[in-house]
Amino acid sequence: MKYYLLGDEMKVAVFISGRGSNLKAILEAEGRNELGKAEIALVVTNNPIAGGLKHAENYDKKIVILDSKNFTDKDEYDNELKQLMVKNEIELIVLAGYMRILTTSFVDYFEKKIINIHPSLLPAFPGLDVHEKVLDYGVKFSGCTVHFVNTEIDAGPIISQEVVEVLDDDSPETLAERILAEEHKLLPRVIKNISESKIIMINRKVRIL
Ligand code: GAR
Repeated sequence: MKYYLLGDEMKVAVFISGRGSNLKAILEAEGRNELGKAEIALVVTNNPIAGGLKHAENYDKKIVILDSKNFTDKDEYDNELKQLMVKNEIELIVLAGYMRILTTSFVDYFEKKIINIHPSLLPAFPGLDVHEKVLDYGVKFSGCTVHFVNTEIDAGPIISQEVVEVLDDDSPETLAERILAEEHKLLPRVIKNISESKIIMINRKVRIL
């Protein structure tokens, strides 16, 4: 699968809902010229008090806050999101801790143009409270996954994963912290690869060239 770039740069929107440490890692990578042809054009949040907005401000990024309180339903909300993406000529949408489920029509419209980072080795442990579930289950390895978003939750084609060992004395917090450190390297790397058209997908198998 080749990405068609409208210009020399690939315009990216990052969606966040909270702390935004992955957004920070992406912005730092862009600052070091380690994001290939990707240009972070827009930061979007559903949460007016998302802590991560300070990172967008620090890097002078355009911020759009779409508070769900101002919309009657999910379709109206995601339609506004869609117009925003089209108006800003966004070519890749990065869900970086975005905790709202996108509507089917939004996901279909931006097919293969939305990626998500999830803090487990998918398809194991989708959804929420991932680290608690990992520890309760007793698996020895966990990690993080970047995948294309499709209409099933955390089930789109897997682009790349990193493995982290689960330690006997881990708490959800200590495990989350070690996995987060890997997320911060993995997500910018995948964005770079996509921007350089190094991702191909056959059926649901993704290869990085
Ligand atoms: C990250 O661990 C990310 O993988 C997870 O939320 C955290 C956001 O942290 N995402 C999900 O659980 C999505 N299902 P951040 O706001 O500091 O980037």
